[in-house]
Amino acid sequence: MVIKWNDKYSCFDETIDAQHKKLIDMINEINELAELDDGYDRYDDIVRIFEGLKDYAVYHFSYEEKMFEENGYDSFNTKIQKLEHNGFVKKLESIDLYEIDEDQIGAVRDLLDFLSKWLDHHILDVDMRFGEFLREKHERP
Ligand SMILES: [Fe+2]
Repeated sequence: MVIKWNDKYSCFDETIDAQHKKLIDMINEINELAELDDGYDRYDDIVRIFEGLKDYAVYHFSYEEKMFEENGYDSFNTKIQKLEHNGFVKKLESIDLYEIDEDQIGAVRDLLDFLSKWLDHHILDVDMRFGEFLREKHERP
């Protein structure tokens, strides 16, 4: 299923929103690969996606964490955010490129499952709490 960005996902920060849209694009690309399942060797595509996700994790999480600090986000929510961000990085690091080659479609489906849960839980709940915080902050006189 193709995921479409919806304005109600907004975190009231253009950069965070653009980065979340970028992740949705990557999830859709992985979804396409998962649906192909035609037995072709797609190792290079899969590795490129993994590398893209690793790069993404570095710049996206560092941007969000900088925003938490600059905007005085509370320590409890900041801690949850950082724990989850670290969990995302660890998950990517735990994926063995040799194992991907042994079961390409299985690896793609696992990744899709992980990212779908991430979207539902982290982006649409944990990050949107920060968005709500930013929105209220901007509305304060
Ligand atoms: Fe986050």
